[in-house]
Amino acid sequence: MKKTDIKIVDIKKSFDGVDVLKNINLEIKDGEFFSILGPSGCGKTTLLRMIAGFIAPDSGAIYLGDENIVDLAPNKRNVNTIFQKYALFPHLTVYENVAFPLRLKKIDEKTIDSEVKKFIELVDLKEHMNKKPNQLSGGQQQRVSIARALINKPGVLLLDEPLSALDAKLRQNLLIELDNIHDEVGITFIFITHDQQEALSISDRIAVMNKGEVLQVGTPAEVYEAPADTFVADFIGENNFFDGVVTEIFDETYGRIETEKLGNLVFELDKVVKVGDKIRVSIRPEKIRVSKQIPTGLSDKHNTLKVYVDELIYSGFQSKYFVWVDGDKNLLFKAFKQHAVYFDEDDNDTIHWNEDAYISWHADDSFLVEVI
Ligand SMILES: Nc1ncnc2c1ncn2[C@@H]1O[C@H](COP(=O)(O)OP(=O)(O)OP(=O)(O)O)[C@@H](O)[C@H]1O
Ligand SMILES: [Mg+2]
Repeated sequence: MKKTDIKIVDIKKSFDGVDVLKNINLEIKDGEFFSILGPSGCGKTTLLRMIAGFIAPDSGAIYLGDENIVDLAPNKRNVNTIFQKYALFPHLTVYENVAFPLRLKKIDEKTIDSEVKKFIELVDLKEHMNKKPNQLSGGQQQRVSIARALINKPGVLLLDEPLSALDAKLRQNLLIELDNIHDEVGITFIFITHDQQEALSISDRIAVMNKGEVLQVGTPAEVYEAPADTFVADFIGENNFFDGVVTEIFDETYGRIETEKLGNLVFELDKVVKVGDKIRVSIRPEKIRVSKQIPTGLSDKHNTLKVYVDELIYSGFQSKYFVWVDGDKNLLFKAFKQHAVYFDEDDNDTIHWNEDAYISWHADDSFLVEVI
């Protein structure tokens, strides 16, 4: 193992009799941008604080390189943490905030000066060096925290939702900057977020957590395209699900299922199933085609359903259709189109709200989520 590889082995933690972390196992490689993604309360912060040393596990081990660090004090671990709140010293300038960790180490003034300037430059705050935190924007304050955490040259940087207090645009910018900083310093980043877009766009790998468990670890494309179960499929991106019984397997990679209310549908065999199994299949909204007329010329691997357009939401770069099958509100499908809807009354192909339409998709675009 490399000096800053992290290996989390059988970690368990309960608070007041409630299991908050249930047997967590993870391996994070040296230099990775690794995200931990999951809904509020699933145990992300607890796990991160355990790596930092602020919380002890009930059992299990955390290896940093070859050393089990669970009994080491936080300041003896080669890690540093950035929290959601900036936690800067209000009475100190940007320069002095960043210099603080080095002053504690009693390093000579000349080295401090050159290091502080280097890290202030890294986070692009040169012009704000002499300001106090209350004279900075939220994004700038968080950049001070990043510089201050990096100046100690930790092997691993732990980031607990560092962008969540910022507005959407700033978050986007700082996310790109974080990515650049990561490339530049080359150390391991463990980044916590409950924002799936953030995790998908920045991570080398993502661990998806729910209720104290890791459900899947994979690259952004893996967790999006091949979700391990219904929770992951639903939590990351948007999805439509349908359940049914496998009635036929054909052409080796395709199956047919009989659903209770949607008739027979074709799907791609991503997992091993047999005739008679009850399964759940998903199709992402952006993979569905909506048309006013019944689609023609489709292959036997396509599915087509007649629907009723309940809602049609124009949102600039895409339009969202919320449609029902068979007049049944419970059979809702979401379909996204990658361009604007033009409301041309005379056009036969224009899909209107409160009208019938058709949705269709190819079996290759669906995904067999799990046997249920
Ligand atoms: N010190 C504590 N005492 C009791 N319960 C705790 C303590 N710390 C955390 N918990 C509980 O453990 C669970 C996980 O908390 P944690 O802060 O790890 O969640 P999280 O995934 O970081 O959520 P969020 O996205 O809201 O920050 C929650 O139900 C929380 O109430
Ligand atoms: Mg948290």
